[in-house]
Amino acid sequence: MIFHQIATERGCQSYFIACEQSCTAIIIDPEETRIDRYLGLAAQDGVRIHYVLDTHTHADHFSGTIEIARELGVPVIMHRDSPAPYVDLRVDDGEKINLGKLSLNILHTPGHTADSICVQVEDKLFTGDTLLIGGCGRSDLPSGDPEQLYDSLFNKLLSLDPGTKVYPAHIYNNREHSTLAEEIADNPRLQLRDRENFVAQMRRLTLKEPDHLSEALRTNLSGGKTVEQLIAAAARHVSFMSLEEVRRRIDSDDPGVLLLDVRERDAYERGHIPGATHIPRGQLELRVNQALPDPTRRIVVYCEVGRVSTLATATLRDMGFTRAVALDKGMQQWIENGYPVESGS
Ligand SMILES: [Fe+2]
Repeated sequence: MIFHQIATERGCQSYFIACEQSCTAIIIDPEETRIDRYLGLAAQDGVRIHYVLDTHTHADHFSGTIEIARELGVPVIMHRDSPAPYVDLRVDDGEKINLGKLSLNILHTPGHTADSICVQVEDKLFTGDTLLIGGCGRSDLPSGDPEQLYDSLFNKLLSLDPGTKVYPAHIYNNREHSTLAEEIADNPRLQLRDRENFVAQMRRLTLKEPDHLSEALRTNLSGGKTVEQLIAAAARHVSFMSLEEVRRRIDSDDPGVLLLDVRERDAYERGHIPGATHIPRGQLELRVNQALPDPTRRIVVYCEVGRVSTLATATLRDMGFTRAVALDKGMQQWIENGYPVESGS
């Protein structure tokens, strides 16, 4: 078995598993910022990714399953209760996925979410957020249930071979894995072994909402894009001009560029680059014909920090303004640099 554990800076773990005989691979809990890493591993190991699997609907980070699945044309595997419409292969407790000579055994372990599964491959158990090293998943987010979590932990996972290695979806210390025996002995959440006390302990926890909860649920449930994905996609289709280059040009007699400020009116009136034309991003498509009659004009688009201007520049290029470029960074940095500013309408 080929095996790689891939972590993000925030401790999200994903797992790349491949059968060397058949050269087939699966990725468990891929994360959107590590997609190039997975594709690089597949190339390095000489294997092809056949499946991507999410252990549950993630509420705290952006799943990479839909993007890899679309790019490679491979099925997304999740539990049959997953609300995500893009799941191709729905699985349930007691089923298995064959990956060449490897068997991936599915255990339905609701509690953290209703659609949580764990995946057992040889002596490794991929526990998602059901069982963590020294902890367990919270049960207070949508579809969580502490009673179900109790059954999943005590009546299912903890009855497996104690030597089984535990690989969770998040690791908050510097370990790479543990074993069920270690968790049974040391995991503080597993020390209250009767149902009532365990459930009471889970209900007492007051945890802060994960960052990006609504965006993560929106994109992971629908397969839609995150804001960062939209901006990254736009950035691949535009070129940029530096602040220094724009400054040099406006100081010269013939700047050769039209500066376009796409912020809201009050921001423009408070201070803009001298000579800039103003069209708010929201009105861009409907006003370009009057405001920018020459599509061959070289246009430098800017906003406050450089994100909205990237989207706006991609829109202008789509509309035929093939010489539109985005300012690298934005008005905030322009002011910090002490460059000239003009105010008023
Ligand atoms: Fe989770």
